[in-house]
Amino acid sequence: MKHSFALVTGTTSGLGYAAARMLATKGYRQVIVTGRSLTRVQQTAAQLAAETKTQVFTPLELDLDTPSSVQSALAELVKRGRPLDFLLLNAGMVPGKTRVLTAAGVEAAQAPLIGHHQLTIGLLRANLLSPNARIVIAGAEPARGGVPLFSYTDLPAFAAKNHQGDRTAAVEALLRNGPNVKYVPNRAYADAKLIVAWWAAALARRLPSGMAVYAVSPGAATDTKVVRNAGPALKWLFIPVVRLIPGMDQTPETAARRYLQASEFGTDVSGKFFASAQGKFTGPIEAQLHPHLHDRASQEAAWQAVVKVSGVDFSSAPSLSAAS
Ligand SMILES: NC(=O)c1ccc[n+]([C@@H]2O[C@H](COP(=O)([O-])OP(=O)(O)OC[C@H]3O[C@@H](n4cnc5c(N)ncnc54)[C@H](OP(=O)(O)O)[C@@H]3O)[C@@H](O)[C@H]2O)c1
Repeated sequence: MKHSFALVTGTTSGLGYAAARMLATKGYRQVIVTGRSLTRVQQTAAQLAAETKTQVFTPLELDLDTPSSVQSALAELVKRGRPLDFLLLNAGMVPGKTRVLTAAGVEAAQAPLIGHHQLTIGLLRANLLSPNARIVIAGAEPARGGVPLFSYTDLPAFAAKNHQGDRTAAVEALLRNGPNVKYVPNRAYADAKLIVAWWAAALARRLPSGMAVYAVSPGAATDTKVVRNAGPALKWLFIPVVRLIPGMDQTPETAARRYLQASEFGTDVSGKFFASAQGKFTGPIEAQLHPHLHDRASQEAAWQAVVKVSGVDFSSAPSLSAAS
């Protein structure tokens, strides 16, 4: 694919910043960098331009918690009219001790997916993704299980217990952190990344044939701000221990490189979740084979719940031009 035009969300720090910088050095001719505040993201774009000695960065205000902000960003992109070759949905966060809900009633760690869905579908409807576009969304190893301190909700069991087996209603409850969901920050994060993996699988079935989407865990890169809201056990115990174990931590650049690697993958692996090998948080990425990730009923339930909560649906490619 010709490297040309990319958009990266969550570029004001960490992996989004590192990825945007790498895209410029790789030869992308335009990189739209987004951030919640225009002033901050303008500073980010200026810093990236100075570091890379290129003029390829365009700042764009985008608060994924706020549908009107997503709409304004989309309107700006429509005005530009240039289809994206690479859409990197990187923004995300580990939530803090106190539960935070957006104005739309979405739990804070889940909210970036809702905004990313609104953005992606808006771009598809406006024909603003190139025919061979690649979409990468940030996942994380807790989505597959086996990560200390982070466990995800068993969706089929939760749906059976609280929603008469209705998995869509159960995912909506996870997105909203209720009813019948006890707020446990690390679990909210693991659930958010599991729903991201399911969403990517469901989106892959709906994309036009040349396009592809992947959920990609960047792996452990503790030198970012990702755990700024996290509790003391994670911040002062887990992370420092991880840093001491060889092969358990990597630089933001190495982590962000995974996104760029995935942007070169083919349509044959569209919808898959790529992460470190089992038991690892660094090293090569591989498609994850855990059965719960491939459970089609859960994938579709995640899609339907995201559609309901975001208020934005997209059924199939043929309706693209009519849908906008
Ligand atoms: N670092 C790791 O070890 C690791 C491991 C696995 C997965 N990840 C994933 O990698 C991604 C990047 O994390 P990072 O380590 O680079 O963390 P980071 O340094 O905290 O950067 C996160 C970026 O996302 C933005 N963001 C978060 N929520 C947002 C929202 N609702 N609307 C708009 N922007 C939002 C932040 O903007 P503000 O500054 O305005 O909040 C920031 O620019 C996340 O999805 C994270 O879950 C990270």
